Amino acid sequence: MQAKKVALITGANKGIGFEVARQIGKAGWTVVAAARNEELGRQAVATLKAEGLDVHFVHVDLEAQGTAGTAAETIRDRFGKLDLLINNAGISSKSDGPPSKVNLDALQTVMRTNYIGAVAVTQAMLPLLQGAGKAQIINVTSELGSISLQTDPSWKFASVKLLAYCASKAALNMFTVQLAYEFRDGDIAVNAVNPGYTATDFNGHSGPQTVEEGAAEIVRVALTDTPVSGKFLEAGGEIAW
Ligand SMILES: NC(=O)c1ccc[n+]([C@@H]2O[C@H](COP(=O)([O-])OP(=O)(O)OC[C@H]3O[C@@H](n4cnc5c(N)ncnc54)[C@H](OP(=O)(O)O)[C@@H]3O)[C@@H](O)[C@H]2O)c1
Repeated sequence: MQAKKVALITGANKGIGFEVARQIGKAGWTVVAAARNEELGRQAVATLKAEGLDVHFVHVDLEAQGTAGTAAETIRDRFGKLDLLINNAGISSKSDGPPSKVNLDALQTVMRTNYIGAVAVTQAMLPLLQGAGKAQIINVTSELGSISLQTDPSWKFASVKLLAYCASKAALNMFTVQLAYEFRDGDIAVNAVNPGYTATDFNGHSGPQTVEEGAAEIVRVALTDTPVSGKFLEAGGEIAW
């Protein structure tokens, strides 16, 4: 087993995941950058390697659950453990909509990717995380998945009632809370982090934040030696579930 810390980040070929990979690599970690598109993933890894970082590619497609198991075998064979898993990959859908008329195919696709995909990757990686001594899981979620905020008509995003995306992140939040409970006496911290509205392909670059700003809280939590667990965090502090 290698001494240097190892992090796996899903959806690391672009956007927030790519910036998180860069910053964790700069902090001296071995980064395993996962992508569903092998060519894009390898290009991203080449970019980060050219910056002098220790970065490796694995193929993980959240819609193809077997890929997580194969990636876990690769990480076990190369590094023997995993110190940090960041479930970052996620999608929105143009066919998303309010509860009364959301497209059911969109609802299934977004739930399968953002929620079930993250659960599948986590389950595949748990033996490696348990083998690391102290480890952490960060689920990249959204304030749009906060049921508390969604009930507040004066909240700045109150009109964003896109059921597929919001429910997928609420489900990911439930996964966070329940997994943190399972490991409450153990050595794996589990947290949900909201990057905030960030300019990426995800939203046609409409967000006011840069990817550096979007990555900041994820990286801060990731690099904390004694992380909290079972929390819903953003740059400003804790968010209500
Ligand atoms: N940007 C925001 O304002 C914002 C706000 C709150 C939360 N978030 C969350 O932050 C995370 C990253 O978003 P982003 O803004 O960086 O979006 P992005 O630039 O669109 O990147 C999303 C990443 O997820 C990957 N992905 C999508 N479907 C996948 C699948 N089936 N299997 C594996 N990878 C898949 C994408 O791969 P491809 O390149 O192959 O598509 C890409 O690498 C998401 O979970 C998102 O919900 C974003």
